Order: sequence, then C-alpha cells, then structure tokens
Amino acid sequence: MELSKAIRERRSVRRFESKPVKKEDLTKILDAARWAPSAGNMQPLELIIVEKKEIKRQLAEAALGQAFVADVPLDIVVCANLERSSRRYGKRGSELYAIQDTAAAAQNILLMAHALGYATCWVGAFNEKIVSNIIEAPKNVRPLAIIPVGKPAEKPSPPTRRSLEEITHEDKF
Ligand SMILES: Cc1cc2nc3c(=O)[nH]c(=O)nc-3n(C[C@H](O)[C@H](O)[C@H](O)COP(=O)(O)O)c2cc1C
Repeated sequence: MELSKAIRERRSVRRFESKPVKKEDLTKILDAARWAPSAGNMQPLELIIVEKKEIKRQLAEAALGQAFVADVPLDIVVCANLERSSRRYGKRGSELYAIQDTAAAAQNILLMAHALGYATCWVGAFNEKIVSNIIEAPKNVRPLAIIPVGKPAEKPSPPTRRSLEEITHEDKF
C-alpha cells in the first residue's frame, strides 16, 4: 500500500472480527516497530504480545473497561525501557526520548497493520500500575500504549482534523 494512502486511511477501530492475525503478518508489524527511529539509537522499545484470553480481559479492565481490548485476537503492549535511554541521556532520556521513541514505534505498528489489512486502536487510557503488574514489567519498563490488532468489524468515518493553516506557523509561532 502506498504510504500516503496508509497514513490517510488508517482509522482507530474498536470492533474486531475473531479471525486470527497471521503469524507472518504479526512479524511484519512488530518488525516495523523495530525500525522506528530512536534517540542515539538507544532502542528503548519493549513489546509484549498478549493472546491469552484472561490477560486480555485483565488489560481491558485496566483500560478503564474498554471492552474491545479483550474482544480482539491480540494486543500489543508497547513499553519503554527507561533505563536504556537514561544510560546515555539521563533524565531527558528517560522522561522524553524514551517516550518519543516508543510513540514513533507505535505509529509504525498502526501503519504497517493497516497496510496489511488489519485494524488497530492506540489505547492510552489505562491504569499504568495495574498494566505493569499484569505484564510483569520490570521497574524501569513503562507501558505506554496498548494496541489491539485484528481484522476490522467496522469502518469508522474519519474524524475531522485541524486545517494545515491552523497548525502551521511561518518562522515564528
Ligand atoms: C496517545 C493516544 C491515546 C489514545 N487513547 C485511546 C483510548 O484509550 N481509547 C480509544 O478508544 N482511543 C484512543 N486513542 C485513539 C484516538 O481517539 C484517535 O486516534 C482519534 O480520535 C483520531 O481518530 P483516528 O485514529 O481514527 O484518526 C488514543 C490515541 C492516542 C494517540
């Protein structure tokens, strides 16, 4: 799929078919995350693939009851390994770069999944402590997004965007 088409047509989907994600497609989706840029190439990304029904249920509960997190073939919990980024960049690494790096990887996941015919939704509303416990994340690993992945069972229309004129500024704000 052409990149501009993938960027424009990707949507947040919240209803999925039960059809599984093909193994080779999952590998391509995860690999897209791996090739995202990261500050100093410190690669703080850690990915937890959740396919067990009970763990998906727990994640949905931690995500303030967003049921589609459970009703999907799999979830990817996208985490930042803060220690990797702070090793070179200290506080700026753990508080900013690790988050930015992980966000870039998450976007690659959304786009690659869409290009392969899957739907996703970036889920950021969750109790971080509870999610950390569920996935048994070590102390320095922070879960930043839960991404359900599956075949879409709905086709949402595109939410509006602010215009280019509104968001762009010439030379100064
Ligand atoms: C950081 C972040 C957190 C989000 N958290 C949630 C969430 O918890 N639940 C949800 O249904 N959608 C969530 N979304 C999806 C947004 O609602 C969605 O991207 C936005 O409405 C634009 O729609 P689109 O993705 O179809 O273009 C989140 C998106 C981002 C980037």
